[in-house]
Amino acid sequence: MALLDVKDLSVRFDTPEGEIHAVNGVSFRLEKGETLGIVGESGSGKSQLNFALLGLLAKNGHTSGQALFDGKDLLSISERELNKIRANRIAMVFQDPMTSLNPYMRISDQMAEVLILHKGLSKRAAITESVAMLDAVKIPDARNRVRLYPHEFSGGMRQRVMIAMSLLCHPEILIADEPTTALDVTVQAQIMELLAELQREFGMATILITHDLGVVAGFCERAIVMYGGRIMEEAPVDPLFETPTHPYTRGLLDAIPRVDEDQEALRAIPGNPPNMTGAPKGCPFAPRCALVDERCRVETPALMEFAEGRARACFRSIEEVAA
Ligand SMILES: Nc1ncnc2c1ncn2[C@@H]1O[C@H](COP(=O)(O)OP(=O)(O)OP(=O)(O)O)[C@@H](O)[C@H]1O
Ligand code: SF4
Ligand SMILES: [Mg+2]
Repeated sequence: MALLDVKDLSVRFDTPEGEIHAVNGVSFRLEKGETLGIVGESGSGKSQLNFALLGLLAKNGHTSGQALFDGKDLLSISERELNKIRANRIAMVFQDPMTSLNPYMRISDQMAEVLILHKGLSKRAAITESVAMLDAVKIPDARNRVRLYPHEFSGGMRQRVMIAMSLLCHPEILIADEPTTALDVTVQAQIMELLAELQREFGMATILITHDLGVVAGFCERAIVMYGGRIMEEAPVDPLFETPTHPYTRGLLDAIPRVDEDQEALRAIPGNPPNMTGAPKGCPFAPRCALVDERCRVETPALMEFAEGRARACFRSIEEVAA
Protein backbone atom coordinates (compact mmCIF):
# COMPACT_ATOMS: atom_id res chain seq x y z
CA MET A 1 0.00 0.00 0.00
CA ALA A 2 1.30 3.42 -0.91
CA LEU A 3 1.95 5.83 1.94
CA LEU A 4 -0.32 8.36 0.24
CA ASP A 5 -2.81 7.45 -2.45
CA VAL A 6 -4.53 10.40 -4.08
CA LYS A 7 -7.48 9.49 -6.27
CA ASP A 8 -9.30 11.79 -8.64
CA LEU A 9 -8.75 14.86 -6.51
CA SER A 10 -10.39 18.08 -7.68
CA VAL A 11 -10.37 21.52 -6.10
CA ARG A 12 -12.84 24.24 -7.02
CA PHE A 13 -13.26 27.77 -5.76
CA ASP A 14 -16.47 29.76 -5.75
CA THR A 15 -15.88 33.29 -6.95
CA PRO A 16 -18.21 36.09 -8.08
CA GLU A 17 -16.93 35.52 -11.63
CA GLY A 18 -17.80 31.84 -11.54
CA GLU A 19 -16.27 28.59 -10.40
CA ILE A 20 -12.48 28.25 -10.66
CA HIS A 21 -11.41 24.70 -11.45
CA ALA A 22 -7.95 24.81 -9.87
CA VAL A 23 -7.26 21.06 -9.72
CA ASN A 24 -9.00 18.57 -11.99
CA GLY A 25 -9.06 14.85 -11.31
CA VAL A 26 -5.49 14.42 -10.10
CA SER A 27 -4.36 10.93 -9.04
CA PHE A 28 -0.93 9.92 -7.80
CA ARG A 29 0.79 7.77 -5.20
CA LEU A 30 3.61 8.54 -2.88
CA GLU A 31 5.65 5.66 -1.50
CA LYS A 32 7.44 5.60 1.83
CA GLY A 33 10.70 7.55 1.76
CA GLU A 34 10.23 8.62 -1.85
CA THR A 35 11.05 12.04 -3.31
CA LEU A 36 8.36 13.27 -5.68
CA GLY A 37 8.52 16.53 -7.60
CA ILE A 38 5.41 18.41 -8.63
CA VAL A 39 6.36 20.83 -11.34
CA GLY A 40 4.44 23.32 -13.43
CA GLU A 41 4.04 27.00 -14.19
CA SER A 42 2.44 29.49 -11.87
CA GLY A 43 -1.28 28.80 -11.45
CA SER A 44 -1.12 25.15 -12.51
CA GLY A 45 -2.67 24.03 -9.21
CA LYS A 46 0.42 22.70 -7.42
CA SER A 47 -0.14 24.50 -4.14
CA GLN A 48 -3.90 24.08 -4.00
CA LEU A 49 -3.50 20.35 -4.60
CA ASN A 50 -1.31 20.09 -1.52
CA PHE A 51 -3.33 22.57 0.53
CA ALA A 52 -6.35 20.35 -0.16
CA LEU A 53 -4.51 17.34 1.29
CA LEU A 54 -3.87 19.21 4.53
CA GLY A 55 -7.24 20.96 4.79
CA LEU A 56 -5.63 24.35 4.20
CA LEU A 57 -7.81 25.61 1.34
CA ALA A 58 -9.36 29.05 1.52
CA LYS A 59 -12.98 29.16 2.69
CA ASN A 60 -14.37 29.35 -0.84
CA GLY A 61 -12.60 26.11 -1.82
CA HIS A 62 -14.20 22.64 -2.14
CA THR A 63 -12.64 19.28 -2.79
CA SER A 64 -13.81 16.03 -4.30
CA GLY A 65 -12.01 12.71 -4.62
CA GLN A 66 -9.93 10.85 -2.08
CA ALA A 67 -6.53 11.07 -0.46
CA LEU A 68 -5.77 7.94 1.52
CA PHE A 69 -3.06 8.24 4.13
CA ASP A 70 -2.60 5.23 6.36
CA GLY A 71 -6.04 4.00 5.32
CA LYS A 72 -7.77 7.28 6.20
CA ASP A 73 -9.17 9.73 3.69
CA LEU A 74 -7.60 13.10 4.46
CA LEU A 75 -10.42 14.82 2.59
CA SER A 76 -13.15 13.49 4.84
CA ILE A 77 -11.69 12.95 8.33
CA SER A 78 -12.56 15.32 11.16
CA GLU A 79 -10.68 18.56 11.74
CA ARG A 80 -9.36 17.05 14.96
CA GLU A 81 -7.89 14.00 13.27
CA LEU A 82 -6.45 16.14 10.52
CA ASN A 83 -4.83 18.45 13.06
CA LYS A 84 -3.07 15.50 14.61
CA ILE A 85 -1.78 14.26 11.28
CA ARG A 86 -0.74 17.76 10.24
CA ALA A 87 1.41 18.32 13.26
CA ASN A 88 2.94 14.88 13.59
CA ARG A 89 2.93 12.97 10.37
CA ILE A 90 2.66 15.31 7.41
CA ALA A 91 4.53 18.61 7.61
CA MET A 92 4.71 21.48 5.16
CA VAL A 93 7.40 24.07 4.45
CA PHE A 94 6.31 27.18 2.58
CA GLN A 95 8.02 29.63 0.27
CA ASP A 96 7.96 32.40 2.85
CA PRO A 97 8.87 31.13 6.32
CA MET A 98 7.36 34.23 7.92
CA THR A 99 3.89 32.96 7.01
CA SER A 100 4.37 30.10 9.46
CA LEU A 101 6.66 31.57 12.08
CA ASN A 102 5.23 33.78 14.80
CA PRO A 103 7.20 37.06 14.67
CA TYR A 104 6.53 37.82 18.33
CA MET A 105 7.79 34.56 19.80
CA ARG A 106 11.33 33.39 20.35
CA ILE A 107 12.29 30.43 18.15
CA SER A 108 12.87 28.40 21.32
CA ASP A 109 9.29 28.93 22.49
CA GLN A 110 7.79 28.22 19.08
CA MET A 111 9.72 25.01 18.65
CA ALA A 112 9.24 23.85 22.23
CA GLU A 113 5.50 24.47 21.99
CA VAL A 114 5.24 21.96 19.15
CA LEU A 115 7.07 19.27 21.12
CA ILE A 116 5.26 19.92 24.37
CA LEU A 117 1.87 19.79 22.65
CA HIS A 118 2.43 16.88 20.31
CA LYS A 119 5.09 14.79 22.00
CA GLY A 120 4.33 15.61 25.62
CA LEU A 121 7.91 16.65 26.37
CA SER A 122 8.86 18.83 29.32
CA LYS A 123 9.92 22.37 28.47
CA ARG A 124 13.54 21.53 29.20
CA ALA A 125 13.59 18.39 27.06
CA ALA A 126 11.76 20.27 24.32
CA ILE A 127 14.40 23.00 24.21
CA THR A 128 17.20 20.42 24.10
CA GLU A 129 15.46 18.66 21.23
CA SER A 130 14.89 21.97 19.43
CA VAL A 131 18.56 22.89 19.67
CA ALA A 132 19.48 19.45 18.29
CA MET A 133 17.18 20.02 15.34
CA LEU A 134 18.63 23.49 14.70
CA ASP A 135 22.03 21.82 14.72
CA ALA A 136 20.77 19.28 12.22
CA VAL A 137 19.76 22.10 9.84
CA LYS A 138 23.21 23.63 10.39
CA ILE A 139 22.31 26.80 12.24
CA PRO A 140 25.63 27.87 13.72
CA ASP A 141 25.69 28.35 17.49
CA ALA A 142 22.19 26.86 17.79
CA ARG A 143 22.35 26.75 21.59
CA ASN A 144 22.38 30.51 21.82
CA ARG A 145 20.52 31.41 18.69
CA VAL A 146 17.49 29.35 19.65
CA ARG A 147 16.58 32.30 21.87
CA LEU A 148 16.36 34.76 19.00
CA TYR A 149 13.20 36.04 17.30
CA PRO A 150 12.50 35.14 13.64
CA HIS A 151 13.42 38.60 12.30
CA GLU A 152 16.88 38.25 13.80
CA PHE A 153 17.71 35.58 11.22
CA SER A 154 18.57 36.12 7.55
CA GLY A 155 16.15 34.76 4.93
CA GLY A 156 18.15 31.60 4.38
CA MET A 157 18.60 30.96 8.11
CA ARG A 158 14.89 31.56 8.66
CA GLN A 159 14.08 28.92 6.07
CA ARG A 160 16.41 26.55 7.94
CA VAL A 161 14.53 27.30 11.15
CA MET A 162 11.27 26.58 9.35
CA ILE A 163 12.61 23.27 8.08
CA ALA A 164 13.81 22.39 11.59
CA MET A 165 10.32 23.13 12.94
CA SER A 166 8.66 21.01 10.30
CA LEU A 167 10.90 18.04 11.12
CA LEU A 168 10.55 18.24 14.91
CA CYS A 169 7.97 15.46 15.07
CA HIS A 170 9.76 13.34 12.44
CA PRO A 171 6.95 13.43 9.87
CA GLU A 172 6.45 10.60 7.40
CA ILE A 173 5.76 13.13 4.66
CA LEU A 174 7.31 16.53 4.15
CA ILE A 175 5.68 18.82 1.61
CA ALA A 176 8.02 21.62 0.54
CA ASP A 177 6.20 24.26 -1.52
CA GLU A 178 8.74 26.35 -3.46
CA PRO A 179 10.99 26.36 -0.39
CA THR A 180 13.73 28.38 -2.04
CA THR A 181 12.07 30.82 -4.45
CA ALA A 182 12.31 33.74 -2.05
CA LEU A 183 16.07 33.25 -1.59
CA ASP A 184 19.05 34.23 -3.68
CA VAL A 185 20.67 31.63 -5.91
CA THR A 186 23.56 30.60 -3.67
CA VAL A 187 21.32 30.22 -0.64
CA GLN A 188 18.79 28.31 -2.77
CA ALA A 189 21.41 25.72 -3.59
CA GLN A 190 22.42 25.42 0.06
CA ILE A 191 18.84 24.88 1.19
CA MET A 192 18.22 22.23 -1.48
CA GLU A 193 21.41 20.48 -0.46
CA LEU A 194 20.30 20.59 3.16
CA LEU A 195 16.87 19.20 2.29
CA ALA A 196 18.46 16.35 0.38
CA GLU A 197 20.72 15.57 3.31
CA LEU A 198 17.85 15.64 5.81
CA GLN A 199 15.75 13.49 3.52
CA ARG A 200 18.47 10.86 3.51
CA GLU A 201 19.00 11.14 7.24
CA PHE A 202 15.35 11.05 8.34
CA GLY A 203 13.99 9.07 5.40
CA MET A 204 10.70 10.96 5.13
CA ALA A 205 8.82 10.88 1.85
CA THR A 206 9.07 14.34 0.32
CA ILE A 207 6.88 16.20 -2.12
CA LEU A 208 8.81 19.07 -3.64
CA ILE A 209 6.66 21.67 -5.38
CA THR A 210 8.51 23.85 -7.84
CA HIS A 211 8.32 25.54 -11.22
CA ASP A 212 11.99 24.70 -11.75
CA LEU A 213 12.73 21.43 -13.55
CA GLY A 214 16.40 21.82 -12.67
CA VAL A 215 15.60 21.60 -8.97
CA VAL A 216 13.50 18.49 -9.62
CA ALA A 217 16.41 16.87 -11.45
CA GLY A 218 18.72 17.46 -8.52
CA PHE A 219 16.39 16.31 -5.78
CA CYS A 220 13.61 13.98 -6.94
CA GLU A 221 13.34 10.37 -8.01
CA ARG A 222 10.04 10.87 -9.74
CA ALA A 223 8.06 13.83 -11.00
CA ILE A 224 4.57 14.88 -11.92
CA VAL A 225 4.19 17.65 -14.47
CA MET A 226 1.05 19.74 -14.02
CA TYR A 227 -0.70 22.15 -16.31
CA GLY A 228 -4.09 23.78 -15.92
CA GLY A 229 -4.85 21.76 -12.80
CA ARG A 230 -4.17 18.42 -14.48
CA ILE A 231 -1.30 15.97 -14.63
CA MET A 232 0.25 16.07 -18.10
CA GLU A 233 2.99 13.57 -17.51
CA GLU A 234 4.39 11.41 -14.76
CA ALA A 235 7.73 9.62 -14.84
CA PRO A 236 10.91 8.82 -12.97
CA VAL A 237 13.16 11.85 -13.36
CA ASP A 238 15.79 10.34 -15.69
CA PRO A 239 13.45 9.22 -18.46
CA LEU A 240 11.43 12.41 -18.03
CA PHE A 241 14.48 14.44 -18.96
CA GLU A 242 15.78 12.06 -21.60
CA THR A 243 12.54 11.37 -23.43
CA PRO A 244 9.71 13.68 -22.43
CA THR A 245 6.49 12.32 -23.91
CA HIS A 246 4.25 15.35 -23.53
CA PRO A 247 4.47 18.60 -25.53
CA TYR A 248 4.28 20.64 -22.32
CA THR A 249 7.13 18.76 -20.63
CA ARG A 250 9.12 19.16 -23.80
CA GLY A 251 8.42 22.87 -23.79
CA LEU A 252 9.55 23.17 -20.17
CA LEU A 253 12.77 21.30 -20.91
CA ASP A 254 13.47 23.39 -23.99
CA ALA A 255 13.00 26.50 -21.86
CA ILE A 256 15.78 25.56 -19.41
CA PRO A 257 18.67 27.89 -20.23
CA ARG A 258 21.82 26.09 -21.29
CA VAL A 259 25.26 27.18 -20.22
CA ASP A 260 26.11 28.28 -23.75
CA GLU A 261 23.07 30.54 -23.97
CA ASP A 262 22.94 34.12 -22.77
CA GLN A 263 19.93 35.50 -20.90
CA GLU A 264 18.62 37.20 -24.07
CA ALA A 265 18.29 33.86 -25.76
CA LEU A 266 16.21 32.39 -22.94
CA ARG A 267 13.32 30.55 -24.49
CA ALA A 268 9.89 30.34 -22.97
CA ILE A 269 6.80 28.48 -24.03
CA PRO A 270 4.79 31.04 -26.01
CA GLY A 271 1.35 31.99 -24.71
CA ASN A 272 -0.22 32.48 -21.30
CA PRO A 273 -1.37 30.11 -18.56
CA PRO A 274 -4.97 29.00 -19.02
CA ASN A 275 -8.01 30.70 -17.58
CA MET A 276 -9.36 28.30 -14.97
CA THR A 277 -12.86 29.76 -14.72
CA GLY A 278 -15.71 27.47 -15.73
CA ALA A 279 -15.76 23.78 -16.53
CA PRO A 280 -12.61 22.79 -18.45
CA LYS A 281 -13.05 21.58 -21.99
CA GLY A 282 -10.47 19.83 -24.10
CA CYS A 283 -6.77 19.60 -23.36
CA PRO A 284 -5.74 22.52 -21.13
CA PHE A 285 -2.50 22.92 -23.06
CA ALA A 286 -4.26 23.18 -26.44
CA PRO A 287 -4.02 27.00 -26.80
CA ARG A 288 -0.22 26.81 -26.52
CA CYS A 289 0.54 23.45 -28.09
CA ALA A 290 2.35 23.23 -31.41
CA LEU A 291 0.82 19.79 -32.07
CA VAL A 292 -2.79 20.77 -31.36
CA ASP A 293 -5.61 19.58 -33.61
CA GLU A 294 -9.41 19.77 -33.50
CA ARG A 295 -9.83 16.80 -31.18
CA CYS A 296 -7.61 18.39 -28.53
CA ARG A 297 -9.97 21.36 -28.24
CA VAL A 298 -13.09 19.32 -27.54
CA GLU A 299 -11.90 16.15 -25.82
CA THR A 300 -9.73 15.93 -22.73
CA PRO A 301 -6.94 13.36 -22.98
CA ALA A 302 -6.89 11.02 -19.98
CA LEU A 303 -3.66 10.28 -18.14
CA MET A 304 -2.68 6.83 -19.41
CA GLU A 305 0.07 4.59 -18.15
CA PHE A 306 2.18 3.45 -21.11
CA ALA A 307 5.12 1.87 -19.28
CA GLU A 308 6.00 0.96 -15.71
CA GLY A 309 5.70 4.19 -13.69
CA ARG A 310 5.22 6.35 -16.75
CA ALA A 311 2.02 8.04 -17.80
CA ARG A 312 1.01 10.79 -20.20
CA ALA A 313 -2.12 12.72 -21.14
CA CYS A 314 -1.89 13.54 -24.84
CA PHE A 315 -3.63 12.37 -28.03
CA ARG A 316 -0.45 12.53 -30.10
CA SER A 317 1.99 9.65 -30.14
CA ILE A 318 5.28 9.70 -28.26
CA GLU A 319 7.11 9.72 -31.61
CA GLU A 320 5.22 12.81 -32.77
CA VAL A 321 6.13 14.63 -29.56
CA ALA A 322 9.78 13.63 -29.90
CA ALA A 323 10.02 14.70 -33.55
N1 LIG B 1 -9.17 31.30 -2.73
C1 LIG B 1 -9.14 31.22 -4.06
N2 LIG B 1 -10.19 31.65 -4.80
C2 LIG B 1 -10.19 31.55 -6.14
N3 LIG B 1 -9.17 31.03 -6.85
C3 LIG B 1 -8.10 30.60 -6.19
C4 LIG B 1 -8.03 30.67 -4.76
N4 LIG B 1 -6.83 30.16 -4.38
C5 LIG B 1 -6.20 29.78 -5.52
N5 LIG B 1 -6.96 30.03 -6.60
C6 LIG B 1 -6.62 29.74 -7.99
O1 LIG B 1 -6.25 28.38 -8.11
C7 LIG B 1 -5.36 28.22 -9.21
C8 LIG B 1 -4.22 27.33 -8.82
O2 LIG B 1 -3.42 28.00 -7.87
P1 LIG B 1 -2.14 27.39 -7.16
O3 LIG B 1 -1.85 28.28 -6.01
O4 LIG B 1 -2.34 25.97 -6.86
O5 LIG B 1 -1.04 27.53 -8.27
P2 LIG B 1 0.48 27.11 -8.21
O6 LIG B 1 0.68 26.07 -9.24
O7 LIG B 1 0.87 26.77 -6.82
O8 LIG B 1 1.20 28.43 -8.69
P3 LIG B 1 2.50 29.19 -8.12
O9 LIG B 1 3.66 28.56 -8.82
O10 LIG B 1 2.29 30.59 -8.54
O11 LIG B 1 2.54 29.04 -6.63
C9 LIG B 1 -4.93 29.62 -9.63
O12 LIG B 1 -5.63 29.94 -10.81
C10 LIG B 1 -5.38 30.47 -8.49
O13 LIG B 1 -5.71 31.77 -8.90
S1 SF4 C 1 -3.63 16.56 -26.39
FE1 SF4 C 1 -3.32 17.88 -28.14
S2 SF4 C 1 -3.15 19.95 -27.30
FE2 SF4 C 1 -2.91 18.53 -25.62
S3 SF4 C 1 -0.74 18.30 -25.44
FE3 SF4 C 1 -1.44 16.64 -26.74
S4 SF4 C 1 -1.27 17.41 -28.83
FE4 SF4 C 1 -1.10 19.16 -27.46
MG1 LIG D 1 2.10 27.64 -5.42
